[in-house]
Amino acid sequence: LTTLREVALELANNLDLPVLLQQIAEHAAYLLNAYYSGLFLLDAEELFLELAAGHRLPAPWAEGRLRADRGLMGEVLATRRSIAVRDYDPRREAEWLDQPPFSRFLAAPMVLRDRVLGVLIVGDHQPRPPFEEDDRWLLSLLAGQAASAVENARLYQEVRQFAAQLERSQAQLIQSEKLAAMGRLAASLAHEINNPLQAIHNCVRLALDFPLSDEEKAKYLRMADREIKRLVHIVQRMLEFYRPSRGEAEATDLNALVEQVLALTHKQIQQSKIALETEMAADLPPVYVVADQIMQVILNLVVNAIEAMEAGGRLWVSTRREGDDVLLSIRDTGPGLTPEQRSKLFEPFYTTKQTGTGLGLAVSYGIVEKHRGTIEVESEPGQGATFTIRLPLKRGGP
Ligand SMILES: Nc1ncnc2c1ncn2[C@@H]1O[C@H](COP(=O)(O)OP(=O)(O)OP(=O)(O)O)[C@@H](O)[C@H]1O
Ligand SMILES: [Mg+2]
Repeated sequence: LTTLREVALELANNLDLPVLLQQIAEHAAYLLNAYYSGLFLLDAEELFLELAAGHRLPAPWAEGRLRADRGLMGEVLATRRSIAVRDYDPRREAEWLDQPPFSRFLAAPMVLRDRVLGVLIVGDHQPRPPFEEDDRWLLSLLAGQAASAVENARLYQEVRQFAAQLERSQAQLIQSEKLAAMGRLAASLAHEINNPLQAIHNCVRLALDFPLSDEEKAKYLRMADREIKRLVHIVQRMLEFYRPSRGEAEATDLNALVEQVLALTHKQIQQSKIALETEMAADLPPVYVVADQIMQVILNLVVNAIEAMEAGGRLWVSTRREGDDVLLSIRDTGPGLTPEQRSKLFEPFYTTKQTGTGLGLAVSYGIVEKHRGTIEVESEPGQGATFTIRLPLKRGGP
């Protein structure tokens, strides 16, 4: 039975249906010691049997299309049982229809669960000993294998179509989300840019078209200058938001980045009468990040905290390890955030500040996400705010 096992193996591995069915037909002739073999499949309407594979098939079968409700094969389909016939009987020619003469003939239905998919046949012209019960059993087995091959191929085809469809709709989704985000951004950007532009326009017109003293003209031009700087700031932030990072990820000491940011903001902290407390975890393992990007995130958070404490306060900065993550927390004693504010915090252009762009946290969020990390906020109105960045220790990079 090696050959049978081979057939089963081929079935499992080979999903090229026509090749597979041809192999089954050839194995059938070989195993049953028959001259010819053929494998016919029912068409979708179940009106005709179509030749799917054949080995030394006699005419007219070799041409390929038979009525499904006639002849010996029609009988097999109707009864769903194999039939073995000895000696072609010319008197039954009309009933057997198109049946070429044979010395012996065996046909088995290809049944899968409660459906018949086709018929597998073997036969001979030359005198041979008749087919036995064993032969019927063997051919039925092969027919069953052929039926599951047809079914597998159909399922496989469906799965592939489904996967392709899924891939297409996913790509569409990503694209439309990107477009929607860009659309929203463009709308708010136009708005953001329009205000300072209007102001500049007014200042310049005043300075040019009105009889003003030099001092007054200078005042308006300085106002225009301020607005231009604001525009430049907005555009720079926008570019940061969109620019794909060229930086390389490398093993980085998070504590060192924090120290750098605190050194940069030292003056501001002092001037704002803010008491600084730090709690850096000793022997913090290095994180694999793009250092200047993470530094930008820390800077944004520290500056936000400072700006939230105009009348002074307390700033805590701490790092620690938690399992496979490294955490950085920045806590202030400012006004905190209402739930409404919290929900808008990371949106581009959300700001409550005169000179803010509202891009600081949006950019930070993007950077941390690229590093497969998270930013979380804890806050209640009047209770200050804590921003926590969580970065994975496992290497993977942004
Ligand atoms: N620590 C904080 N406490 C209270 N409110 C905060 C804090 N951090 C941020 N916010 C609120 O979130 C808003 C958005 O912050 P974000 O950093 O994105 O922009 P911004 O600071 O206003 O502008 P920019 O960062 O461009 O200077 C702020 O305007 C402020 O209202
Ligand atoms: Mg900010």
